[in-house]
Amino acid sequence: MSRFLCLGIETSCDETAAAVVADGVDPLSSVVLTQERLHEKFGGVVPEIASRAHIEGILPAVDTALRRAGVSLTELSAIAVTYTPGLIGALLVGVSAAKALALASGKPLIGVDHIQAHLYAARMGVPDFRWPAVSLLVSGGHTSLYESRGDLDHRFLGGTRDDAVGEAFDKASKALGLGYPGGPAIERAAQGRDPNRFRFARTMIDEAHFDFSFSGIKTSVLYAMHGQDARGRAVPRTPEEVADIAAGFQEAVVDVLVAKSVRACLRLGIPRLVVGGGVARNGRLRQRMAEACAAGHIELFFPPPELCTDNAVMVAGLAWPMFQAGLQADLDLDAVATKQHRR
Ligand code: KG4
Ligand code: ZN
Repeated sequence: MSRFLCLGIETSCDETAAAVVADGVDPLSSVVLTQERLHEKFGGVVPEIASRAHIEGILPAVDTALRRAGVSLTELSAIAVTYTPGLIGALLVGVSAAKALALASGKPLIGVDHIQAHLYAARMGVPDFRWPAVSLLVSGGHTSLYESRGDLDHRFLGGTRDDAVGEAFDKASKALGLGYPGGPAIERAAQGRDPNRFRFARTMIDEAHFDFSFSGIKTSVLYAMHGQDARGRAVPRTPEEVADIAAGFQEAVVDVLVAKSVRACLRLGIPRLVVGGGVARNGRLRQRMAEACAAGHIELFFPPPELCTDNAVMVAGLAWPMFQAGLQADLDLDAVATKQHRR
């Protein structure tokens, strides 16, 4: 049987990405054009700048992905694109490009949900993976727990009531003067530092529900940055103190994510946890989650680091189970900025 060769396109936020994946599991190429340097001076993603950069990057990204995979447009089985959720102007660039390519080539079009794609990334390299699982999505836009019964079946259990955890990393990093994007900067600074010198609240950690809140901790980080001498006069923090604040922040956030995820597995009687999204790249989260899951006899699945942050491999990958389920899109596929119940 011939292979299912899918071109994936991802433009929901600040990465312009294209990839070719065979049979949903075998990446033949992956191109990620990051816009980090464009958004750096603003300390966050500026939607208009993102859209413009996607327009410039999308065709070169697609061309490069096809060339590196050694696959021509006519050899493709399908074209998949993230259509939701994300920045509307950013999504539109990818959706328009995918529709044009599908129309020109006559190939089937598949509209992929970015959240489902992030979660698929954790299990795409696991041939004998079996559902159900509890899923934790931790990214710049989402912090949510789901009860997952299939690649396309994620029931929302709870999520952040304010900032997403990646957003908290980005804001805390800005407050600490560590730069953008904040996740990698905080992780780097916190390496080998004391996470208990500055202690931050573990908001909602003991509450029975599966919601999160991460907006308070960034204010606490800001306060922690204001040191005082014995007379109450303001003194700037030393680089060592800043690094310890970073470690304290990271530890507090990781504590909450680990506690709530493990509790969801135990409460639902599902001994399997899937984690996806940019923050899943964090080494401390991976380590602490692994320890807690081992202790609770929970099987744990993380994507490889390069498939945690936004990429098109996860989009082209998820297209395979979608295609098998007959879930093709029409050429009137629309970009949708947000979906209900996906906090
Ligand atoms: O999944 P993603 O690439 O985009 C969204 O869908 O939002 O996630 C981006 C987020 C950013 O907030 C970034 O700071 C965070 O993931 N991130 C990390 C790490 N690498 C990226 N957070 C913590 N530790 C990291 N190593
Ligand atoms: Zn993402």
